[in-house]
Amino acid sequence: MRVLVVGSGGREHALVWKLSQSPEVAKLYCAPGNGGIGELAELIDIGAEDVEALAEFAESKDIDLTVVGPESALAKGIVDLFEKRGLRIFGPSKAAAKLESSKAFAKNLMKKYRIPTGQFAIFDDPQAARAYVRQLGVPIVIKADGLCGGKGTIVAQTLSEALGAIDLLMEDRIFKQAGERIVVEERLVGEEVSILVITDGVTAVPLLPSQDHKRLHDADKGPNTGGMGAYAPAPIVDAMLLKQVMDQIIMPTIRAMASEDLSFKGVLYAGLMLTSEGPKVLEYNVRFGDPEAQAILPLLKSDVLPVLDETVEGRLSTVRLEWDSGSCVSVVLASGGYPGDFQIGKEIRGLDAAHQLPGVLVFHAGTKRDRNRYVSWGGRVLNVVGLGDTVDQSLKRVYEATATISFDGMQYRKDIGFRAVKKPVAT
Ligand code: AMP
Ligand code: GLY
Repeated sequence: MRVLVVGSGGREHALVWKLSQSPEVAKLYCAPGNGGIGELAELIDIGAEDVEALAEFAESKDIDLTVVGPESALAKGIVDLFEKRGLRIFGPSKAAAKLESSKAFAKNLMKKYRIPTGQFAIFDDPQAARAYVRQLGVPIVIKADGLCGGKGTIVAQTLSEALGAIDLLMEDRIFKQAGERIVVEERLVGEEVSILVITDGVTAVPLLPSQDHKRLHDADKGPNTGGMGAYAPAPIVDAMLLKQVMDQIIMPTIRAMASEDLSFKGVLYAGLMLTSEGPKVLEYNVRFGDPEAQAILPLLKSDVLPVLDETVEGRLSTVRLEWDSGSCVSVVLASGGYPGDFQIGKEIRGLDAAHQLPGVLVFHAGTKRDRNRYVSWGGRVLNVVGLGDTVDQSLKRVYEATATISFDGMQYRKDIGFRAVKKPVAT
């Protein structure tokens, strides 16, 4: 099969790496890809959102399957366009992608179908939003309706923070139309987990539960980022909890979408808060998580191609996934200044030494090949991955590997996976 992966981050490197091991893959392309992906796939210089050009390319190269990484391409309708042209593609339609591209749509769907989530109200008028926030009080959560690259949610601790967030989104329009409408939501308390499933609209196959680390600094301090690291499996999600999530959240969501004539194919990602009243949905994503994919895919023993392929065919019920019983931790190495303004073009040292360590993988996120070296080319630069029989072993490996790598301004969290580490039992 000739396969095209769309996107340029660590998630796409992990997908390309996994696909490159499939005996059924004859040729791999990635558009636009990054420095590291270029070692495994032919890079095509077309942006992920240039969906027309991607369709032209797929047609001209007889691509058998296209796999979409980022939500921006899905929200632009890449799946609808490919399907119209008779091209096979893994991912939801533009209308189904609204589960991620409109938080108001997602919240209304959950309310209609009684899927557990926080109480909320939706506003187009800043005046009404302010009155509601004053009435409810803090803490409270303000969310832009549209896609903001993970930066459109503000968990406000004070009234002035909440009112300021409404101003920034609705009056100053810092995220343009994405903030024209907002969701004001009850603040939920608990531990967060990511449950990703692959679904063809009827059957859902869960991937290993994982946890992301969204804040920049250790102990969940500092600003929100795209994600500073992830690990899988998350031991807090035992078989009973996973069953509860599948029965009360995942399957009802898939059935709800089908009832709305928006049959969902692809990856459905539920970001959950494990509250004292049970798991509740914080958000849906309609694609593999980044950095979750970098911690999940290395533990997948089965070939990934058949599961993607059977999803497109609507035959997912025939697929079983086999997983490694070990643990995987992925640590993001970011540029100095990220998630604010950051510098690029810094030489990356120590990659070869990291590769030589046992149980270590390195997925590139923002890098570029520059003659015989790599330079940083984005906010999140690399994902260092450690695999082991236990969380302790994968953590030891990932941080040993991280210590061999350096570039000017490099920053990373030293506590990825801390929630999974067994705490000493009090006697
Ligand atoms: P979202 O943009 O919905 O993905 O939210 C980003 C992050 O904000 C989540 O990962 C949570 O850490 C936090 N968050 C979102 N909604 C809530 C909520 N209702 N209560 C508490 N924290 C939230
Ligand atoms: N890890 C969060 C996301 O992929 O949006």
